[in-house]
Amino acid sequence: MANVLIIGAGGVGQVVAHKCAQAPDFENICLASRTLEKCDRIAAQLSRPIRTAQVDADNVPELVELIRAVKPNLVLHVALPYQDLHIMDACLETGVDYLDTANYEPLDEARFCYQWQWDYHERFKARGIMALLGSGFDPGVTNVFCAWAKKMHFDEIRELDIIDCNAGDHGQPFATNFNPEINIREVTAPGRYYEKEQWVETEPLSVSEKFNFPEGIGSRKIYLMYHEELESLTRHMPDIQRARFWMTFSDNYLKHLEVLGNVGMTRIDPVEYEGRQIVPLQFLKALLPDPGSLGPLTRGRTCIGCLIRGIKDGKEKKVYIYNICDHEKAYDEVGSQAISYTTGVPAMIGAMMMLTKQWHGKGVFNMEEFDPAPFMEKLNQYGLPWTEVTL
Ligand SMILES: NC(=O)c1ccc[n+]([C@@H]2O[C@H](COP(=O)([O-])OP(=O)(O)OC[C@H]3O[C@@H](n4cnc5c(N)ncnc54)[C@H](OP(=O)(O)O)[C@@H]3O)[C@@H](O)[C@H]2O)c1
Repeated sequence: MANVLIIGAGGVGQVVAHKCAQAPDFENICLASRTLEKCDRIAAQLSRPIRTAQVDADNVPELVELIRAVKPNLVLHVALPYQDLHIMDACLETGVDYLDTANYEPLDEARFCYQWQWDYHERFKARGIMALLGSGFDPGVTNVFCAWAKKMHFDEIRELDIIDCNAGDHGQPFATNFNPEINIREVTAPGRYYEKEQWVETEPLSVSEKFNFPEGIGSRKIYLMYHEELESLTRHMPDIQRARFWMTFSDNYLKHLEVLGNVGMTRIDPVEYEGRQIVPLQFLKALLPDPGSLGPLTRGRTCIGCLIRGIKDGKEKKVYIYNICDHEKAYDEVGSQAISYTTGVPAMIGAMMMLTKQWHGKGVFNMEEFDPAPFMEKLNQYGLPWTEVTL
């Protein structure tokens, strides 16, 4: 039994609040975010009462005051990556464990990098507290799938392809399935993959292949991107010789993105407009549909998994571990589509691992550093069942 403070009342925060409320491990829940009404709206949907609060998670003293008032055992951060370091600072000051789903990004630079957060390791260790980084689906479950593959199937993992497919459709001309600013920064960044101890950079979305997804989803075009779990996985699993991340995009999505990029609407540097500074991507976010509004409109499924090649008992082996999540089923259960669902469920399970001390340590950790078995079991139990096939 434990107290949890959830920060962020967006698409993912809503799923986390629902899932924590379903699980008896979380005795007291407080949901805090920049806009109190959003917390209250989510609280009203839940099966049991929770506390809500307003907080600016970029303001460390405000966070410290809130943490001291709520007295959580864990701060579960599902606001935006810009807040990671501020919330970690507040956890250090108050001596409380920390969990997030996305690595820190500075506002003015679209760059995935764990180093900023790994640099907190000694301070968290000295304070006797734990930080679990990237407990969403990708990163998150994909890291756990790799740890599971290593534990159950391989003596040595050689090649890893993480493949993220959203085969759903929301019927809108252009919309992103999660925070548009974060999503577009990620997609328009250069591609990057790891091969033979080196990082190879590619032009944004310039490398693509076809992949045949299971269970009727069928063949889709996948695009090589850089994604943060590649950095931690290649560090913690040094036998990996090649690691890549792929994502599907519809032609329609790419067409819109190309035009928006060409006219400068995806820029993240401020431009002067009628005497004030505006960031084009932040302005674009204000125009696009709120991802939360796509929940009731989205049909179809996601399929995210790891295709892993390696060696077992001296022989080559290839294993594919994946989850399929249905947008409409997710919406029926928690009022959010599968993108938020597949992030929020692992965030809740990561918190559960920490609070029950099944995953325990002092310092800053990534998901693959712990025993994957209890996490894999909870995925099946809490709505993200997985399948593994030897190919
Ligand atoms: N690992 C994965 O698989 C994965 C996948 C998808 C998303 N994510 C991550 O999950 C996180 C949440 O995504 P989302 O789609 O839920 O985003 P979202 O819908 O935009 O929600 C973000 C929430 O954070 C709040 N917030 C923003 N700045 C804040 C601040 N300074 N202080 C307090 N609250 C603040 C927002 O408040 P307002 O409502 O007032 O704006 C909003 O409620 C992001 O970090 C995203 O990168 C991870």
